Order: sequence, then C-alpha cells, then structure tokens
Amino acid sequence: MSALTGIKRPVEIEMAEFEKYFSRTMHSDIPLLNIILNYILRRKGKQMRPLLVFLTARLNGEIAESTYIAATCIELLHTASLVHDDVVDDAHERRGSLSINALWNSKIAVLLGDYLLSSGMHICVEKSRYDMLEIISEAVKSMSEGELLQLQKARKLNIKEEDYYKIIISKTAALLSACTACGARSVTEDTETIQVMKDFGENIGIAFQIRDDILDYEGTGLTGKAVGNDIKEKKITLPLIHALEQAENSKRRHILNIVKSKKKSRSEINEVISFVTDYGGLDYSELKMNQYRDKALAILDSYSESEVKESLREFVHYTTSRKK
Ligand code: IPE
Ligand code: IPE
Ligand code: MG
Ligand code: MG
Repeated sequence: MSALTGIKRPVEIEMAEFEKYFSRTMHSDIPLLNIILNYILRRKGKQMRPLLVFLTARLNGEIAESTYIAATCIELLHTASLVHDDVVDDAHERRGSLSINALWNSKIAVLLGDYLLSSGMHICVEKSRYDMLEIISEAVKSMSEGELLQLQKARKLNIKEEDYYKIIISKTAALLSACTACGARSVTEDTETIQVMKDFGENIGIAFQIRDDILDYEGTGLTGKAVGNDIKEKKITLPLIHALEQAENSKRRHILNIVKSKKKSRSEINEVISFVTDYGGLDYSELKMNQYRDKALAILDSYSESEVKESLREFVHYTTSRKK
C-alpha cells in the first residue's frame, strides 16, 4: 500500500468520484487531441492537488459540488503546466514515459497545454463558480511569472537564495495554496479561515518544490523524470545555490562553467552532483524544507484532532519524504 492510499482514506469515495469527473473532461472530437488526452489519462500522476482540495474542504466542513469543480479544474491546470514545463525544460521523460513534446513535438505540446488550461478555467465558468476562478486564475498568473523569473535568472546564473524562494512560491506554492484556499472556500465563506488555509498550502508548496529539487539530485529512479535535468537546463536550485555559497572562488567558477556550458557530458553532470553533496547542498535544503514543513504542521495545530487532520498531517510528511 502506498503512503498516499492511507492518507486518502477519509475522502476515498470523493477521490473515486473525482476520477470520473476528471476523465469526463479529457475527451474531444478532434482525433489527435483525443489520442493525446488518452495517453495522459493512462499515466496519471500522484493526484496530490485534488487530494489536498478534498482534505482541506473536509477539515473545514462538508464537501460540496464546488469542491469537485475546484479539484478538477486544478488537476487540469497542473497537467497543463507539466506539459508546458517539459517544453520549457526540454525534458523528455514524465511520469516514467515519454513527455508530450518528446513523443509528438513542441508545437503540439504548447497547443495541448493551452487546451488543458482553458478547459480547466471553463469548468469554473460553466458552473458559475467565479469565487474559485478568482483564486485559481491568480495562481495560474503567478505560475507564469515564476517560470519567467526562473528563466531570467538562469540566463545570468546569478540566482540568490532569496530569488529561489520567490521563484518557487510563484511557480509551485501558488497552485498548492490555491488547492487549500479552494478547499476551504467550497465549504465556508469565512475569509480568515480561507486565508489560514491558503498559508497552510503555501508552506506545503514551498516544501514540496524543495523536495522536488532535492530529488533531481538524489536520483531515486522512481520520479519518472531524468536525474540532473535541472543542471542540464542551467536551473540553479537550492542545493546548488547553497553549495556554491560554501565553495572557494576557483571551485565556484569551475562548477559555474560546467553549468553554463551548452553541452554537458554525463561525467560533468555527475561532478556537479558530487559537488552539491560534498558541499552540504542537500543537507541544507533538507533543513530548509523541514522548516516549511513545520510551519505547515503548526497551522494544523489550531484544529481539534480528527481523522482528516491526521491525514493532512501525513500528507505534509509525505510531501517532504516522498521518493517520487
Ligand atoms: C510536479 O508535480 C511538478 C512540480 C510542481 C514539481 P507532481 O510531482 O505533483 O506531479 P505528478 O502529477 O505527480 O506527476
Ligand atoms: C515545476 O517545475 C513545474 C511547474 C511548476 C509547472 P520543475 O521544472 O522543477 O518540475 P519538474 O521537476 O519538471 O516536475
Ligand atoms: Mg520547469
Ligand atoms: Mg521540469
């Protein structure tokens, strides 16, 4: 049994119902589009975002139709962002299979990403849930800003730890905080509760992306994504930022030259990975990640004990210990 199976228990029925909602949206009369939508449906991800929507809704009240609307919309947007992300990162693997840009091409991936994004937004409009649309569209805007800031920093290779947090809050934590804000919004109109839940999601999101960036170095073989792709794409994340700060000038210049170069050999990538490990980049990132994990857990403390609270606590722990 995977860790997520246990975490899902309080909303098991809702998650099964969500799957139906989600697959119903993944259909089109355009044959090519339909083939690709089926390809994506057969390789589903961890579905952590819809799970977070349902758990936060349940924590604050009774799950409603708008909870399903938000969960479906957000998983579609997440899928869209991955399809676009693999074009931007020139990544050929996703969820253990070929990415859309690798199997078809970038043109198709860009258009498919747009299709998924607009389908997600459309669900909220169709059901007149403008409150959800407001929360979610803000997150989508922020994700694009985060990706562009990351590209800007990658060009100059001058990213500081502070910039890194700014990037990951925008590109990743924004969507996770939309999950918790929408989950709460679907069961209450109390703005303070919604804000508290939003902060909860943001802290989970920051920890989530730090874990993702550690995994890019660890190479568990379980992520279904190529190890070292961040270095290949000149993406300087927390483990490398910290290691570079610790290194003496000549070492730093040497490593940055590798990162900067267009074509990197496998042995050069491995050299950067060893450098990051030896200079404490992974340990430091783990430490920082755990600080955000603990902030998220502290927010949960204000709720009285329940099965769903326990699931959320495990969700947070899973986020920071996951191998994929
Ligand atoms: C990957 O998210 C994208 C990031 C924000 C790092 P997930 O790891 O949740 O992706 P799937 O949906 O499970 O494949
Ligand atoms: C996260 O960025 C993807 C989005 C927020 C859209 P990454 O590029 O770090 O994610 P992975 O590792 O490819 O999933
Ligand atoms: Mg990316
Ligand atoms: Mg990527």
